[in-house]
Amino acid sequence: MNVHALALAKAHRFDEQTSAFAGDVIDDLSQHPKRLSPKYFYDSAGSELFEQITQLPEYYPTRTELGILRDRGGAISANIPHGAALVEFGAGATTKVRLLLNECAVGAYVPVDISGDFLKMQADALRRDFPALDVYPVTADFSAPFALPDAIAAMPKVGFFPGSTLGNFEPHEACAFLRSARDILGEGAQMVIGVDLEKDERVLYEAYNDAAGVTARFNLNVLNRINRELGGNFDTGAFTHRAIYNRERHRIEMHLISRKAQTVRLLGRSFSFRAGESIHTESSYKYSLERFRALARGSGWTPRESWTDGARMFSVHALVASD
Ligand code: AVI
Repeated sequence: MNVHALALAKAHRFDEQTSAFAGDVIDDLSQHPKRLSPKYFYDSAGSELFEQITQLPEYYPTRTELGILRDRGGAISANIPHGAALVEFGAGATTKVRLLLNECAVGAYVPVDISGDFLKMQADALRRDFPALDVYPVTADFSAPFALPDAIAAMPKVGFFPGSTLGNFEPHEACAFLRSARDILGEGAQMVIGVDLEKDERVLYEAYNDAAGVTARFNLNVLNRINRELGGNFDTGAFTHRAIYNRERHRIEMHLISRKAQTVRLLGRSFSFRAGESIHTESSYKYSLERFRALARGSGWTPRESWTDGARMFSVHALVASD
């Protein structure tokens, strides 16, 4: 927890999660340029909006990755040892992991997520549909070190990180995450990971500027969350969504642009915005197959095999922990 978070926890009697949120928001809005962390998009309204994004005609990643897992599930699962424990980092909807579970005899499934209630619901549904599978949910922030359940200690470990969530990490954070996952899973571990690929900029632009405006609502919702949970007074109508492709850095950037000069009050502080000033809310890095493999090699993993769809929009990689 940062210094702001500690002071805020005391002054406002926030719980640990809200204090961390408050501390990060104060820090991030005090930066030049201003920013907010994409991990705060996902309150219940944000998670619902993200579900809607995954169904949009312009947003190709989810259905393309599902297509790869469906079409190549046999080959992908051939890398997973019999009786392995499958550890999913940031378990959301279980649609993707079910495609793997249908293909191989996994001994245990360990979904790891910060949202304990959601995790429990998903775990119960999986236990119903796969009665022979042991499910051990772990409530934790998967981007920081956490302990695996003792019950899977003797099993071979396979990490699962679909959805190109890795793309929302800065490259140094992606490297730190892969290293930490390798330490958590241990020697001999494997990893199955979904990574979005570089492509025609227009396709990327449209995927993050959908015609129905769902991505805009998703982006703006973080301001609603700040208002509701931290008592801010953001006028969401005074900000507008913007997503652009940054070619040099191979990333889509999402911004919230202030429509006018304005001042926002939050937790006893004032944050002033110029007309046109941006809050950078998310980066979504796009990799080439080779750039991702180089990142994996530099982060404690040896690339073993990769699969893409016919149009090479998205990729799924099997990695093995390097010695
Ligand atoms: C979760 N993550 C991989 C999504 C992405 O594409 O970067 C989040 C998202 N942001 C806007 N649309 C979807």
